[in-house]
Amino acid sequence: MDIRITPSILNADFDNLANEIAKVAEDSDLIHLDVMDNIFVPNFTFDFNTASKIIVDCPIDIDVHLMVADVDRIGIEYAEIGSTSVTFHIEASENPKKLISEIQKHGARAGVAIKPNTPVEVISDLIDLVDMVLVMTVEPGFGGQSFMENQMAKVSQVRAALNSSTRDIWLQVDGGISTETIEIATRAGADTFVAGSAVYKSPDPAQMVRKLRALAVNQLNNPK
Ligand code: DX5
Ligand code: ZN
Repeated sequence: MDIRITPSILNADFDNLANEIAKVAEDSDLIHLDVMDNIFVPNFTFDFNTASKIIVDCPIDIDVHLMVADVDRIGIEYAEIGSTSVTFHIEASENPKKLISEIQKHGARAGVAIKPNTPVEVISDLIDLVDMVLVMTVEPGFGGQSFMENQMAKVSQVRAALNSSTRDIWLQVDGGISTETIEIATRAGADTFVAGSAVYKSPDPAQMVRKLRALAVNQLNNPK
């Protein structure tokens, strides 16, 4: 199992994004881009044009997390412009199987996300179709919230389902990931970690990415 660290730029300086991304690019696997529409969640980040520019200019792969309504349409647009990974919320999709196949048809990895109150059963029939499952460890909408440890049972449940698949399906957690919590999430079975404020509130974001990776890798290799 590979460990991936995907810093979220939600809490970075939006006026200097290229510079903020450059700080972590070398040490990160992908950059996590949170797209919010103020409908699916009570917050707004980027419109499509602004997000496209960030995606096209980004020196490393982009992991787009769509927290938007109308995702069956918008998700395809994000795949078309060259996102490496496009994750949609099951709570927002009317036709998830079609959306997954459309995203993949455009050459992107397709991810499905569940909010804290959404049980894993809701995505059971999608797990073997997607390339990533995202178990939210906060209510989506804002950075800097506390990690919800009570979501770890769901992470373990997804991990058990993934173990019986031969496909390379990533298991991501998003929300409150820090040096205090990354080992807990690794133990539960996550392999792909979003970290927003932990990285960008750190005086040395690159070093924080390396530290988070080391903690997860060590936990994986020396389970305790
Ligand atoms: C929240 C976003 C997260 C956010 C995480 O809805 O999906 O990606 O940036 O921020 P932290 O790591 O600060 O919880
Ligand atoms: Zn996110």
